[in-house]
Amino acid sequence: MKITSNFLVIGSGIAGLSYALKVAEHGTVAVITKREISETATNLAQGGIASVFSADDSFDSHLRDTMVAGAFLSHEETVRMVVENGPKAIQDLIDWGVNFTKNDDETYDLTREGGHSQRRILHSKDLTGKEIERALVEAVRKHPNITIYEHHIAIDLITESKVTHRRIRPNRCLGAYVLDIAGEEVITFGARVTVLATGGAGKVYLYTCNPDVATGDGVAMAYRAGATIANMEFMQFHPTTLFHPHAKSFLISEAVRGEGAILRRRDGTAFMDQYHELKDLGPRDIVARAIDNEMKVHGDDCVFLDITHREADYIRDRFPNIYKTCLSYGIDMTTEPIPVVPAAHYLCGGIQVDKWGESDVRNLFAIGETSCTGLHGANRLASNSLLEGVVFAARSARRSLERLEEPPSLTPFPAIQPWDPGSATDSDEEVVVAHNWHEIRLCMWNYVGIVRSNKRLVRALRRIQMIQEEITDYYWNFYITSDLIELRNIATVAELIIRCALERHESRGLHYTIDYPETDDAHWKRDTIIQKAF
Ligand code: SIN
Repeated sequence: MKITSNFLVIGSGIAGLSYALKVAEHGTVAVITKREISETATNLAQGGIASVFSADDSFDSHLRDTMVAGAFLSHEETVRMVVENGPKAIQDLIDWGVNFTKNDDETYDLTREGGHSQRRILHSKDLTGKEIERALVEAVRKHPNITIYEHHIAIDLITESKVTHRRIRPNRCLGAYVLDIAGEEVITFGARVTVLATGGAGKVYLYTCNPDVATGDGVAMAYRAGATIANMEFMQFHPTTLFHPHAKSFLISEAVRGEGAILRRRDGTAFMDQYHELKDLGPRDIVARAIDNEMKVHGDDCVFLDITHREADYIRDRFPNIYKTCLSYGIDMTTEPIPVVPAAHYLCGGIQVDKWGESDVRNLFAIGETSCTGLHGANRLASNSLLEGVVFAARSARRSLERLEEPPSLTPFPAIQPWDPGSATDSDEEVVVAHNWHEIRLCMWNYVGIVRSNKRLVRALRRIQMIQEEITDYYWNFYITSDLIELRNIATVAELIIRCALERHESRGLHYTIDYPETDDAHWKRDTIIQKAF
C-alpha cells in the first residue's frame, strides 16, 4: 500500500503537531505516531516553557543563562534567534488554545528553575506538557488537511540514493517505510517533505523518566540515511526522579527546587552549597553529578528533596500532580522529604540541522529533541526544550513551503519501490529481542552514565557492537515488529553516544570523564560530528 501527502510528520509531541498546524494551510499532512497520539514526552513535561515575559527580564539574560548552562558550546546566533522568537512562539500556543497558569492580576505566573537567573518559566501548574498536548491534539484533530495514523511506526527513511542505488549528494528524502502495527503491513509513505519529530532516547538507559516511546528512532533513521549526527555524548540526567521500587522514575520537577526545595543527605544535611554557588538551583549537570557523588561517598541509594518549609496548601495547589503521585506511593511531600535519584532525561545532541531545521539530507527536517540545532550545547537549560520545539517547528514550516513550491520538473522524484520483506519468516525466539533490550540499557547505565572513563566506554562499545550483529541477523531473517524496530534503533543510538563520548577528550557540561577531567577550550569548543560511512 502507498500513501502520498505533501508533508509527512513522524511524531506527535509539541514539535510535530505545531509543525503540522503551520503547514496544513498549504497542503496535505500525514502525522504518524507509534502509539496513541498523546503518548509523548511533551505530555509528561512538568516544569514549563522558558521565555522572556517580565519587565525584569531580557533576551540578553535568557541568552546568557543558556550559554552558561550549555558550557559555551551552544551556538550564540541560534540561541539569540530562539530566545527572541520565544514570546511569539508562546503566543502561537495560546492561540491554539493552551492555558498557562495566571496570577490574580491576569499576568502569567512565572516560575524559576535551575540555571535561570530570572523567573521566566510559563507553566500550567505542574502539568504543562499535558495542557500543551491537549490543545495541540484538539487543533490537529479538527484540521481537514491533517490525517493522523496512530500505532504506525517508521522503519526507515526512503532516500533518492536508496531508491536509485546510486550515491547522490546531496541526498534527498522521499518519505518513509512505516509499519502499521495492528494491520501488520508495511506502508510506503511518500512525501515532498519529511519531518522527524520523534523525541528523545532516554530508553537507551536503564533508568529514565522518559516515556516508553523515547527510543531515538529519528536519530537512528537519519543516521542510516546518511544525515550528520552531532553531540550525542551530551545525555542529560535529571537530578530528581522519585526513588521508589514501583514508581518507574517519576519526575520531580525542577520547579520544586525553583520554589525553594532543598536537597539533603539522609541525616538531613543540605549539601549543594559544597558544589555550586547557586546551590540547589545550580545547572543540572552539576546537581546530578553532586547527587551521584553524595550517593557514592555515603553509600546511600538516594538523597532527599525537602520542601516541607513551604505551606502545605501552597504545595498542594502549585504541584497537584507531584503531590498526588508521591502520596500514592505513601510519601506526603508537605510533611516529609521526597527520596530522589538522577535518571536519563534529555538528549542534547541529535540530527544536525541548519537554522531552518533542515538536515543535510535535502527535504528532511528534524525538530524537537531528535534534532541538534545548536541551542543546548553541552547541557540544556531547563524548560528551553518546549520552546525550541515550537520555534523550530515554525521555521521548518516556512522552509518546507519553499521546498513544496520547487517545480517538480526541476527535481523529478524517482519512483519508490514497495517494501521488500525478502525471505523473512515468523520468529520463534522473541526472548532474544527482550534480552538484548535489557542488556543495552544496563550496559549504558553502568558504563556510559553520569561519570565516564575511556576503559568503560571501550568496553561498552564492544558489547553494543556484538549485540548489533545479533540484531542485524535477526532483522534480515524474521518479520519485522515494533519491538525489533525499536531495539535496532536504541542499539544504533547507544553506539552513537559511545562513539561521540570516546571522541571528546575533555569534560564539558553533561560529558564528564575521569580520563580528561578538565574543559579544553583550545581543542574541544566544537561539536562532535558523526556520519555513517558509505
Ligand atoms: C522539570 O520539570 O524539571 C523538567 C523541565 C525540563 O526538563 O525542561
